Amino acid sequence: MPYTLTTPLYYVNDRPHLGSTYTTLACDAIARFQRLNGQAVIFITGCDEHGLKIMRTAEAAGLTPQAHCDAISERYRDLWDRWQISNNRFIRTSDRRHHQVVEQFFARVEASGDVVEGRQQGWYCVACEEFKDDPHESDDPECAIHRRPLEWRDEVNLFFRLSRYQQQIEALVAQEGFIAPASRRREVQNFVAGGLKDFSISRVDLPWGIPVPGHAGHTFYVWFDALLGYLSALLEPGQPVELEALVRQGWPAQLHVIGKDILRFHAVFWPAMLLSAGLELPSTVFGHGFLTREGQKMGKSLGNVLDPELLLERCGRDAVRWYLLRDIPFGDDGDFQQQRFSDLVNNDLANTIGNLLNRTSTMARKWFDGAVPPAGEAALASHPLALAATTAAERYQQAMIRLDFRTAAESVLQLAIGANGFLNDNAPWKRMKTAGDEVRVGEDLYAVLETSRWVGLLLAPLLPDLSSRLLEQLAQAPIDSASDPLASPTPWQQAQRWGGLEPALALPEPVPVMQRLELDGPL
Ligand code: MSP
Repeated sequence: MPYTLTTPLYYVNDRPHLGSTYTTLACDAIARFQRLNGQAVIFITGCDEHGLKIMRTAEAAGLTPQAHCDAISERYRDLWDRWQISNNRFIRTSDRRHHQVVEQFFARVEASGDVVEGRQQGWYCVACEEFKDDPHESDDPECAIHRRPLEWRDEVNLFFRLSRYQQQIEALVAQEGFIAPASRRREVQNFVAGGLKDFSISRVDLPWGIPVPGHAGHTFYVWFDALLGYLSALLEPGQPVELEALVRQGWPAQLHVIGKDILRFHAVFWPAMLLSAGLELPSTVFGHGFLTREGQKMGKSLGNVLDPELLLERCGRDAVRWYLLRDIPFGDDGDFQQQRFSDLVNNDLANTIGNLLNRTSTMARKWFDGAVPPAGEAALASHPLALAATTAAERYQQAMIRLDFRTAAESVLQLAIGANGFLNDNAPWKRMKTAGDEVRVGEDLYAVLETSRWVGLLLAPLLPDLSSRLLEQLAQAPIDSASDPLASPTPWQQAQRWGGLEPALALPEPVPVMQRLELDGPL
């Protein structure tokens, strides 16, 4: 069974922002980690292109909705390419075949008796694309998230009979591991305990949507169609649409990674829809936190939105990935602070990890014929750095499985800090002056170079670029994260063997592997 994981499908009402980049980077680290451990991975991302919000945005830009969606979705695709995101699927919900998936899925839901007509009255937030249950009492209620006026709706819609799934959903959300992190479970449980109400799945007079078969004048509610994008994404190029076949090629998903604001859709509505259609449920829905900037919510009106395109150009992939994955506990809210960002990148990556390799390699080349010194006792599994490396790798592996990137990153960093300490304590530059100590100096340098190799290996899922540069400095091939499910142990796992660095291997000219961030002015 492949490991299927998804980002949300991003609305194309605006260009990509840091929030979507954050989710996508995190998923990329998970996908790489799984592949390196021998899993075949289906990593899905894409764009959610229907609904009133997008129709209005296109109108305001003087474009047809399709032309608008084509342009913005291309920007997403291009951005993910430049971030070197390793997704192997990119689904757009305006895709013709997606329409067919939605139609087939709806037919199943209708056949289960879960579609009824009803009258929908309520306050709607176009930005959320959601009815609000309890807007503040006032004549002009506004959305608590977007601070924009809600719109009153009163129309006959088709409803999905969510209420029928009360017990099953209650049991599901109580299940350990379905909603992660565990701290988010309570909120959903309370919502479910309040009693599930049927929800409307169609709109009338909204042309920019998928027509509901057999119900003239209705188009599907954007969320009903969008969630099904996770299934459509499984289609191979040119494959005819057939739900059963899709299920065999990657459904159910192991993991949906989303922001906490859309947890209800994924942990309540979506599983009920799947139950109704007789399809299996995803194993985990992980709701991460929200990013603020210097303590403030990011928004266009505040003019403080962090642009991922600019961030990439000015700071590079490694720096941003490191900061977001190492500093913000995944699942919690996080604050982007520029000073802290550059401090962490410079201290951890340039000074600790980069310099460790640079200075050790310089010494090794100078005193040992430009090559890796003889390993001697440093190759033993009982060497203190061998123990440190294997312990760090173990901790790292466990943390990555829990999606605890922070602990994973810290365990790599601590390994490098330990090796720096070892180098300082043993001071090979002093010892080298004492005749007869060369063997010991060689062993110490070997141990540190070998530790740097482990640092490079362990960084592969988190910082693939820096990982390759570190390994290159040690004359090692970059770690190829293309999955080969047959190899067991995988090349990555095999490489994690203490003593794997070959003595006498010629070392390339040392170059700094990580540029320091010198940011003048706010990003
Ligand atoms: N189109 C829906 C998802 C449909 S999934 C079938 C959607 N799109 S979105 O573009 O508005 O949001 C995408 C993701 O970005 C959501 O997971 C949301 O939580 C996340 N974020 C939006 N702003 C964010 C921050 N400031 N910080 C972190 N994530 C944020 O919702």
